[in-house]
Amino acid sequence: MKVILVNGSPNANGCTYTALKIIARRLEQNGVEAKIFQTGKKPLSGCLGCGYCRRAGKCVHDDVVNEVALEMDTADGLIIGSAVHYASATGSATSFMDRLFFSSPNKRFRMKFGAAVVSCRRGGATAAFDQLNKYFTISQMPVVSSCYWNMVHGFTPEDVYADKEGVRTMQVLADNMAYLIKAKQAAGLPLPELPPAAVTNFVRPDLLDEG
Ligand SMILES: Cc1cc2nc3c(=O)[nH]c(=O)nc-3n(C[C@H](O)[C@H](O)[C@H](O)COP(=O)(O)O)c2cc1C
Repeated sequence: MKVILVNGSPNANGCTYTALKIIARRLEQNGVEAKIFQTGKKPLSGCLGCGYCRRAGKCVHDDVVNEVALEMDTADGLIIGSAVHYASATGSATSFMDRLFFSSPNKRFRMKFGAAVVSCRRGGATAAFDQLNKYFTISQMPVVSSCYWNMVHGFTPEDVYADKEGVRTMQVLADNMAYLIKAKQAAGLPLPELPPAAVTNFVRPDLLDEG
């Protein structure tokens, strides 16, 4: 049992990382391996929409996105952490998630558990949280919840530890993810069969008024 955690903040040891460490420690206590990746300080390209991944099965930019993508093939869950920048996820977290999900086959994430964790000084946490959860809910990933929306508050790691409710929210999230991974494993059910593929865009040329 393995969960991949990604720190989408440029601060490798900042508040978001502190929240992820709390979760990782708790997952390990539950017997679940926890592996933390960093998007880092260097610019992380957004998705180019170039289609390379459709042919090659991986993103054209060979960086942490491709590393995590491969790890996900043997993982049971994914937790994305992000600092809140202007009431949104960071640029790096957004680029990372866009490219990770766009370049991956559906089966990489299907029925694996997902959760987002955000860190802010004061406001905008739920907007960033909602943004990040959308990657999971378009990818057939059950979203793991906690006893509050998954957020911590602060400017330094010490602030995060002082946010007792935030710390507890992270602990409960870790416990719930471990529980669900074990429950899924114990059930051992095959995944549900999918109906035939269907892609319908909003623009319907056949319905356009010629005049
Ligand atoms: C560019 C930028 C934008 C930010 N925007 C917000 C914001 O909208 N709301 C907020 O509460 N904090 C904001 N902050 C503060 C950080 O989100 C907050 O201190 C966070 O806990 C830092 O996490 P980190 O140490 O993992 O980077 C911003 C910080 C930066 C650098």
